Amino acid sequence: MEKLVIEGGRPLVGEVPISGAKNAALPLLAATLLTPGRHRLYNVPDLRDTRTFIRLLADLGVESQREKECLILDSSRLRHAEASYRLVKTMRASVLVLGPLLARLGRARVSLPGGCAIGARPINFHLMGLEQLGVRCRLEGGYVDARAEGPLHGAVIYFDIPTVTGTENLLMASVLAEGTTVLKNAAREPEIGNLIDMLNGMGARIEGKESDCLTIHGVSRLTPADCTIIPDRIEAGTYLLAIAASGGSGRVTRCNPAHLLSLLEKLRQTGLQIHEGSDWVEVDWPAGQARQLRSVDIKTMPFPGYPTDLQAQFMALMTLASESSVIHETIFENRFMHIAELHRMGARIRVDGRLAVVSGSGMAGLSGAPVMATDLRASSSLVIAGLAASGRTEISRIYHLERGYERLVEKLSALGARVWKEEE
Ligand code: EPU
Repeated sequence: MEKLVIEGGRPLVGEVPISGAKNAALPLLAATLLTPGRHRLYNVPDLRDTRTFIRLLADLGVESQREKECLILDSSRLRHAEASYRLVKTMRASVLVLGPLLARLGRARVSLPGGCAIGARPINFHLMGLEQLGVRCRLEGGYVDARAEGPLHGAVIYFDIPTVTGTENLLMASVLAEGTTVLKNAAREPEIGNLIDMLNGMGARIEGKESDCLTIHGVSRLTPADCTIIPDRIEAGTYLLAIAASGGSGRVTRCNPAHLLSLLEKLRQTGLQIHEGSDWVEVDWPAGQARQLRSVDIKTMPFPGYPTDLQAQFMALMTLASESSVIHETIFENRFMHIAELHRMGARIRVDGRLAVVSGSGMAGLSGAPVMATDLRASSSLVIAGLAASGRTEISRIYHLERGYERLVEKLSALGARVWKEEE
């Protein structure tokens, strides 16, 4: 197993290009199951999770090949409709094959994802919505055995909580259903907009993009599509936070600032200077002043609120602020695993249920230590802390980071970080 070593305390400076979004690539890859033929996806990030998903598709019978910037997926011949525990246990997003397999074949067998490092993460809303479309879902031997009881039919589906992959699964399940489906209180994350664009490009008729009410008029057939994955807003946010925490200044390019609204507002409140263009964001310190961050509270919310996937990274920044801030995690019940590791680096954070109170120790407040990555975003908060800390930080279990950050070491090194991988 490899660990990541960081010699911290060097300000990051320069430009970093942002890759395609993991959480957009996964549903778009799943959408290629909907109809036979060759689909072309551009800007697919090369990550552990996308590779796992491509393996899952290959197991189902989808052939893929890379051609320069493009990933071509041929879903002409599906072999079976089962996503095994072996693959689902390594990546919960495998559950995204449920909707398209039901739409195309009328059946699917998908291992029930267990809990994960950040919470229980049930899929009851996915299953409830599918049942309303005319699918019978039974749980058997750890698998969801889903079968359409006839042609899928439109329905009005209300989500108690906006669910990202739940909305995506129901969109894919309903595009070929008879009649009209309405998804109410649907999630509005930009990755869902990307999926809607792909599905509409395939001939689907979905209205309401970017709203919490999506109307899907079922069509009788779809054709393969070409689609480009949107930039990864979580990767972009992570680099902005890393640059700020290191005391540096720089620009993230090839991103969409509109998808980063809540983070940019919070960064401005800390006193940092944020400038943005059509596809870049710059972070800098006010000229002629001591480098000091104001403490800012955040509360995670569904989009366009502050993203849970940037909570841990913002907390790392707040450990360097001048006073106390309150971080409120409302989406996942167990997303504070990074706190114990940040403590090892000198952070002062108290937890009470879903609230964390961070007592900022100023820009020189952290010192390097050996720490353990527990999940993808928790790990990236440790990277940020390590870049800001004096001395050496060693982060073990970096396979978590490789799930979601493309060429992390290369990109950080280009910004001037001293970072490398070593065998444990
Ligand atoms: N929920 C239920 N029942 C369901 C579905 C969701 O109770 O059937 C609850 C969840 O437990 C959670 C809330 O609803 O409390 C929202 O969860 P959601 O379903 O939106 O999460 P997800 O679709 O499983 C996606 C991202 C996550 C991201 C969340 C929230 C993908 C592949 N994953 O997960 O990304 O944190 O939305 O924005 O899109 C990551 O990239 O590190 C990551 C965890």
